Amino acid sequence: MTNNWTAADIADQRGRIAVVTGANSGIGFFAARDLARAGARVVLAVRNAEKGAEAARAIQAAVPNAKIEVGSLDLASLDSVRRFAEWFQREHGALDLLINNAGTMAFSPRRETADGFELSFGTNYLGHFALTGLLLALMEAREDPRIVTISGAFHRMGRINFDDLQGERRYGRWRAYAQSKLATLLFAFELDRRLRAAGSTVRSLAAHPGYAATNIQFAAATSRLDRFFGKIGSNRLFAQSAEMGALPILYAATYPGLEGGAHIGPGRLFEARRYPKPAGSSAAARDGETARRLWNVSEQLTGVPFQIAAGALQTPEVPPEQVQAGETPGV
Ligand SMILES: NC(=O)c1ccc[n+]([C@@H]2O[C@H](COP(=O)([O-])OP(=O)(O)OC[C@H]3O[C@@H](n4cnc5c(N)ncnc54)[C@H](OP(=O)(O)O)[C@@H]3O)[C@@H](O)[C@H]2O)c1
Repeated sequence: MTNNWTAADIADQRGRIAVVTGANSGIGFFAARDLARAGARVVLAVRNAEKGAEAARAIQAAVPNAKIEVGSLDLASLDSVRRFAEWFQREHGALDLLINNAGTMAFSPRRETADGFELSFGTNYLGHFALTGLLLALMEAREDPRIVTISGAFHRMGRINFDDLQGERRYGRWRAYAQSKLATLLFAFELDRRLRAAGSTVRSLAAHPGYAATNIQFAAATSRLDRFFGKIGSNRLFAQSAEMGALPILYAATYPGLEGGAHIGPGRLFEARRYPKPAGSSAAARDGETARRLWNVSEQLTGVPFQIAAGALQTPEVPPEQVQAGETPGV
């Protein structure tokens, strides 16, 4: 592992195509920019077209020869996830890097996605579960294809509450966020085990940004008190920059020879700051039994069964009725 690895060390990404979810803001923006700088064609998968266009312009200004596209993806709607996957398959037909980055924090009171899932579980975890299942087959024939799923220190406080996954009986904003982050990490590790068992060349890795000053604390703020704590929390005295926070994600996505199942985070101050290093994970995140159970429930909830056959991967067809004629999620 290289010490003090930076975006300048990213291996040549020319000829590769990447999808970065939530690429209009924070860590996703810098991950997208630096992949583009290394030569990758990058699709900014965002829910707000204007914010997406603005981010694309900012990347283009910083990297004049960047190959950037904006695609419409709302992870809080399975219909939107299916339409994005269908559009991407039609437009590109192949994928090298999938960065499952977008995230929403802890809302109070409880909110739901379009499909009735608790918002952070539905967005951070189930939306990315479905997206990955729908795009996986496009990665199989590529060279060094990788899926990087963003975890977070909150996973250590998480518990998968199978009796009340959507927090309908008992909801706590931080409990919900922590469950969603534990679920993303369980998913990244379980996907790695399944890909290996199938003899796939696709690698599943996880990464977290440490503690980075982004928009996430503000996006979930519903009161002045929330905004006050958001300002303190995102203060650079405590948090590192979003640009630094993107490094572990970029490292997981591009460092040559990195094994599937790796978990990368900042190397200093209890994984809150500085350059990428292998990160720790809780025993709960490594629990294969919980991961299998969660996987089965997630297939049922999303209606996206991963078809991982020995030596080959097949992605389920996007149901034709999910795609409106003439509609394109590219924006
Ligand atoms: N910042 C930290 O210290 C920290 C620590 C640990 C983990 N993380 C993780 O890092 C990831 C990136 O967060 P960030 O800190 O960079 O926050 P951010 O600046 O708020 O970025 C979050 C991104 O996710 C997008 N998003 C939210 N809900 C979405 C949805 N339903 N569909 C599509 N996109 C959606 C946001 O879009 P809009 O702009 O439209 O809202 C935004 O682009 C998240 O997974 C977060 O859990 C962050």
